[in-house]
Amino acid sequence: MPVAVVVGMQWGDEGKGKIIDLLAENVDVVARYQGGHNAGHTICFNEKQFVLHLIPSGIFHENKLCVIGNGVVVDPLALVEEMRQLEEAGIDLEGRLVISDRANIIMPYHGTSDKGRESGSGFQKIGTTGRGIGPSYADKIARAGIRTCDLRDETYLKERLRANYDEKQKILKSLYGTELPEFNCLLDELMGYRETILKYIADTHILMRDQIAQGKNILCEGAQGTMLDVDHGTYPFVTSSNSTAGGACTGLGIPPTKVDRVLGVIKAYTTRVGEGPFPTELSDADGERLGKVGHEFGATTGRPRRCGWFDAVVAKYGVHLNGIDALILTKVDVLDGFKTIKVCTGYEYKGKTFLDMPADAEVLENCRPVYTGFDGWSESTVGVKDFDRLPENARRYINRLSELLETPFMMISTGPDREQTIQREPLF
Ligand code: GDP
Ligand code: IMO
Ligand code: MG
Repeated sequence: MPVAVVVGMQWGDEGKGKIIDLLAENVDVVARYQGGHNAGHTICFNEKQFVLHLIPSGIFHENKLCVIGNGVVVDPLALVEEMRQLEEAGIDLEGRLVISDRANIIMPYHGTSDKGRESGSGFQKIGTTGRGIGPSYADKIARAGIRTCDLRDETYLKERLRANYDEKQKILKSLYGTELPEFNCLLDELMGYRETILKYIADTHILMRDQIAQGKNILCEGAQGTMLDVDHGTYPFVTSSNSTAGGACTGLGIPPTKVDRVLGVIKAYTTRVGEGPFPTELSDADGERLGKVGHEFGATTGRPRRCGWFDAVVAKYGVHLNGIDALILTKVDVLDGFKTIKVCTGYEYKGKTFLDMPADAEVLENCRPVYTGFDGWSESTVGVKDFDRLPENARRYINRLSELLETPFMMISTGPDREQTIQREPLF
């Protein structure tokens, strides 16, 4: 049962897109299990760069099935736009892209509500991507969502929209002074998207069940990262879904007994976009250098990412929470030229040392990271493909991280391109 789940180990942007694209070469199906177009997954090959938001990162390999699971929230406008861009780039989608008929739809009022809350009318600012993700998941849990299967039946769709419309109209008007478009405009808009996407909508649970039964190799793609998981992340500064490995089962309708391996993608340092605690954040020249060399700007919103040293408390937490079998270390090349590289091994707060991730935002905001220093290297590691060709201190840094996390690195990434990778262990 060759089913692997790939998760981000930090606060997102670990390089999942690059790694999933690379691994996709040897699988039959790539299936996204949560999140929405808040994600930005960058893929580089043949001197071209693509940023995917909703469509799984296997799409650039011919004949691979790409599934958008029931756990994903789908903005039809964003989806249609991304489909158009890919088709313009010569990528065939028909017969390869399948969208779950149980996925919830992000409606225009979700975006309005997300932006309204973030604009500071009393709610704590999270620094969201403003894409309507939180309000859409809130409606899903409140059983008020509209699902992709509803697009099949105009009468039922109308009923579902009517049930939401008056309530949303009142809320948005009183809280943010915003008017919704006319009911019929919203309905027509949805019906317009239906033209394009209906043929891609199917029962993906059945599809996944059949693919598993046929022994196909399947990669489940996580978006965001472990620390942005709604249950296990730095709540409330998280996204609104389960980005951790368990989300693959609920978000795709795969039983836990069918998951074979869990892989974690982890950056050689740490970044975060948006608000919220970040114990190893650097506001000095080192932090600036990580951001500059690593081109740390949000792939979705373009916001500068906050940068800091590798946090082994976060990493260990992620290894245990997700049940990581092997890790993939990315952006090692960004550390080239640092005299000293630091790794956080604990948090000190009010005379106590935390070796495990505390739940309280207060502790995380005000703790002092305990660091171990490593000698850096002056040689370039950009594009190195052979572990033995890395500078001695880079190997030492990587081996030490592996020991600390008690987990092997099956792959090490030394640049954004597919080719710039050290492959140490096969996927299955
Ligand atoms: P994702 O959201 O986890 O898929 O990651 P993003 O695409 O948002 O951000 C990762 C960024 O780092 C992208 O610009 C990638 O092209 C780039 N990248 C990925 N791996 C490496 C690497 O090993 N070295 C360098 N320098 N850049 C990388
Ligand atoms: P990928 O898949 C980094 C962050 C936002 C914000 C918080 C909540 O590319 O790693 P949301 O719009 O989801 O309600 O915002 O989560 N966030 C991400 N940060 N990478 C992402 O995706 C993210 N998706 C959401 O910045 O702090
Ligand atoms: Mg990203």
